[in-house]
Amino acid sequence: MNIGILFSGGDGPGMNNCLYNLYKGLYKNNNIILFYEGFKGLINNKTIQFDIKELKQYSTEGGICIKSSRCPEFATKQGVQKGIKTYEDNNLDVLIVMGGNGSLRGAHELVEEGKNIMFIPCSIDNDITDCDYSIGYTTACQNCIEYITSVHDTMESFSRACIYEVMGRDCDKIANFVAHSIDADYVYNNKDCSLEECVKSIKSKNPVIILRENILDIKDFAAKFEQATGIETRYCVIGYYQRGGRPTDEEIIFSKAIADNCCNLINQKQFNKQILLKDNNGTFMPVIKEV
Ligand code: F6P
Repeated sequence: MNIGILFSGGDGPGMNNCLYNLYKGLYKNNNIILFYEGFKGLINNKTIQFDIKELKQYSTEGGICIKSSRCPEFATKQGVQKGIKTYEDNNLDVLIVMGGNGSLRGAHELVEEGKNIMFIPCSIDNDITDCDYSIGYTTACQNCIEYITSVHDTMESFSRACIYEVMGRDCDKIANFVAHSIDADYVYNNKDCSLEECVKSIKSKNPVIILRENILDIKDFAAKFEQATGIETRYCVIGYYQRGGRPTDEEIIFSKAIADNCCNLINQKQFNKQILLKDNNGTFMPVIKEV
């Protein structure tokens, strides 16, 4: 079979590991085509080559070795048609799309046009419907926890409060997980939260507040918090630090499990599936859903 693979959208640790395990499970009996920079590469028929040894070296590193991109062109009819042309020019039997919600929409477009797709959830935000784990999420949470724990040492020395902004786009999973893990004083995770509620919930001398991105201006909020509490307040936007670094062991195990399930389905010629992990009383189990 001719099998295409692309990553689209935000990168994250564990994604290279999934790629390596997909390649390992498929390359002996198939021709693998790696598209460079996601849907952009599909539109422009731009590919990149790696051998199994190189992919293994990348497998425990963050980032995406075949590169990703945000590709607004693929949200247009013309963009999808260009992608279909590349699909056909390469005689693809199936294309593995790795990404988040936006990439899933792109995958749907191709399925609607009669193409075979497999979808693998890759997003630190963990915001894909019916999915409890997407690749990158556990390391992003871990990165936030490490970052906050380190900054908190200095906040304690100066009896300061600190507000930490985490990523997630419109999803509160990173914020909630991190807040719970470090026993934060308050998690400002949606637009209904308020300064009053936040101030009331303070339980420590050096309050730690977790703020999900895209809700409010952190600088302004920190100033209002300081005024309301009288506690000297600093703020940190954790930013892209969350998306990099070595994947956690859990991330490596989960991303391999997803890749192995995907390879099995492809070998059985079962296409147009999403390979999801669902939490079943604390154990993550693969769940296969139609794209
Ligand atoms: O989807 C992952 C994510 O890191 C979001 O949490 C964040 O809002 C966004 O990507 C940032 O996007 P960009 O990499 O385009 O700045």
